[in-house]
Amino acid sequence: MTVEPAEKLLAPVLSAFWDDPKSWTLDTYRRHEGYEGLTKALAMAPDDLIAYVKDSGLRGRGGAGFPTGMKWQFIPQGDGKPHYLVVNADESEPGTCKDIPLLFANPHALIEGMVIACYAIRSSHAFIYLRGEVVPVLRRLHEAVREAYEAGYLGKNIQGSGFDLELTVHAGAGAYICGEETALLDSLEGRRGQPRLRPPFPAVEGLYACPTVVNNVESIASVPAIIQRGKDWFKSMGSEKSPGFTLYSLSGHVASPGQYEGPLGITLRQLLDLSGGMRPGHRLKFWTPGGSSTPMFTDEHLDVPLDYEGVGAAGSMLGTKALQCFDETTCVVRAVTRWTEFYAHESCGKCTPCREGTYWLVQLLRDIEAGKGRPEDLDKLNDIADNINGKSFCALGDGAAAPIFSSLKYFRAEYEEHIEGKGCPFDPARSTVWA
Ligand code: NAI
Ligand code: SF4
Repeated sequence: MTVEPAEKLLAPVLSAFWDDPKSWTLDTYRRHEGYEGLTKALAMAPDDLIAYVKDSGLRGRGGAGFPTGMKWQFIPQGDGKPHYLVVNADESEPGTCKDIPLLFANPHALIEGMVIACYAIRSSHAFIYLRGEVVPVLRRLHEAVREAYEAGYLGKNIQGSGFDLELTVHAGAGAYICGEETALLDSLEGRRGQPRLRPPFPAVEGLYACPTVVNNVESIASVPAIIQRGKDWFKSMGSEKSPGFTLYSLSGHVASPGQYEGPLGITLRQLLDLSGGMRPGHRLKFWTPGGSSTPMFTDEHLDVPLDYEGVGAAGSMLGTKALQCFDETTCVVRAVTRWTEFYAHESCGKCTPCREGTYWLVQLLRDIEAGKGRPEDLDKLNDIADNINGKSFCALGDGAAAPIFSSLKYFRAEYEEHIEGKGCPFDPARSTVWA
């Protein structure tokens, strides 16, 4: 296999001017083609715009990879009901840190994308549901929305097109489950955030029971560049089924954690080359391709193409492209215990397999980690995860089961070592992750 020089693989689009002074202002955004995509979009018929985004092959960047244009196309037209766009900015998947930095550094890319999307789906009211803890981002977003209203990119008769759009920014209250699209809609309506039964999907019955597109921040922020530079430019990156550029969040025991923007299909080996590799003197032990909800990989998977097909064929999911890298000092049982504690804490309690199952997984894992495990506990772990996976009401349950299955698959011997040795074989002082 020929490996391209790492520097040739960078494709900064959304992150192209994050280092500029005041990158988040309208002035800076305009100096970098800002709102030029909107001008082009407003000259197109809404249906043509939807078809254009569909043809570009853009897939949802929130984790599931659902085709964005197709989602827009599901919105029924001529139904007499209001249509809504809701941007899911409740980024909370462990290890995922791409939407929040994007909003902090370049909020106008999202606002421009929202105006384009709303024009396409014929919506006159859009919402951003932002993770509530990130107050500095909330302030910056409010400021950017104010600038956009003042400049005539939001409000009445946008750029003389006759199209009107109101944009509301809403801060959530810090629950992971409110990132699940239907729980998010419940929360936005003022109710306790718990997932709704799907179907009906939000495209048919969403916010206030009206047709609603729920899209991730990065998905919508990518639209202006696609319109401005063209779908063929977009399709020239990545693979046929997973085209385009994307933001990867690299974290853990790496030399330079952060956001790296490149085409879909890049490999972790290439990203590590780009970023200076693992911390000096250490080697990769295991990693997640898309946050803890995606089955973990090991150093054998360094050359798996990071696109939906490549990661899927290797037995995991691309998810949010949150590449959390752990070196040989990390106890895998301890890492899985921490993740499972997170899922148990964040389980909304609506369905039994997840509510009860995550609790029991935590009890077993804590026992094993503390040296009180029994050999039969490993089958029990597997059994409980099996009773959660695919049997829970929403994707949180499947996410909780994923690290259990994959860690048992690749590191069963390490679990057994804990049980046989009646304790953790790792000196906790050697691990910097959980200190
Ligand atoms: P999903 O595959 O069920 O749905 C994806 C999207 O397509 C949704 O917006 C859904 O409404 C739409 N859709 C699917 N089938 C449809 C149909 N027949 N008609 C109309 N619309 C349809 O995935 P889900 O459960 O929404 O999300 C799971 C993903 O979320 C996981 O892959 C995970 O990686 C990701 N995730 C992301 C987090 C973050 O912080 N960004 C947090 C946790 C999970
Ligand atoms: Fe709630 Fe978990 Fe069931 Fe999802 S899977 S509805 S988070 S209890």
